[in-house]
Amino acid sequence: MPDDNLSSQYYSAIAIEHFQNPRNVGELVDSDVEGQVVNPVCGDEVKFFFRLRKNKDAQERVIESVSFQASGCPATIATSSIATEMLIGLSLSEASQLTRLDYAEAVGGLPKSKQHCSVLAEAVVQQAVTNLRLKDQSSMKETT
Ligand code: FES
Repeated sequence: MPDDNLSSQYYSAIAIEHFQNPRNVGELVDSDVEGQVVNPVCGDEVKFFFRLRKNKDAQERVIESVSFQASGCPATIATSSIATEMLIGLSLSEASQLTRLDYAEAVGGLPKSKQHCSVLAEAVVQQAVTNLRLKDQSSMKETT
């Protein structure tokens, strides 16, 4: 497939740079919540780890740190990498409003056949938010 080739004919300089030097890679050992998603069609997989903190004046927790592990194509790696940079400092509501188009745009666009790859970054954030709600609900049950 030609656009698996890292040529600047297919990918922007930003996407190539994030693929070659991905940011925030690895497991956050003291993460508060994780999300993990797989693309059932191609098998690409990403896992994100989030550490949260509560702002003094905000009701909602914000993302203090985020890291990722991925097994996938250049577009998956590049959009996951840039997503980690975009998510730091956001509340979970703000984070869950970012879409695959935001991540694709942030890497300077993706080749037509790779536009779906940024879905994984969007989906993994949504899954982490859901996981956190479930975790909160189960810890509330334990304390009642
Ligand atoms: Fe599967 Fe990129 S080719 S997500």
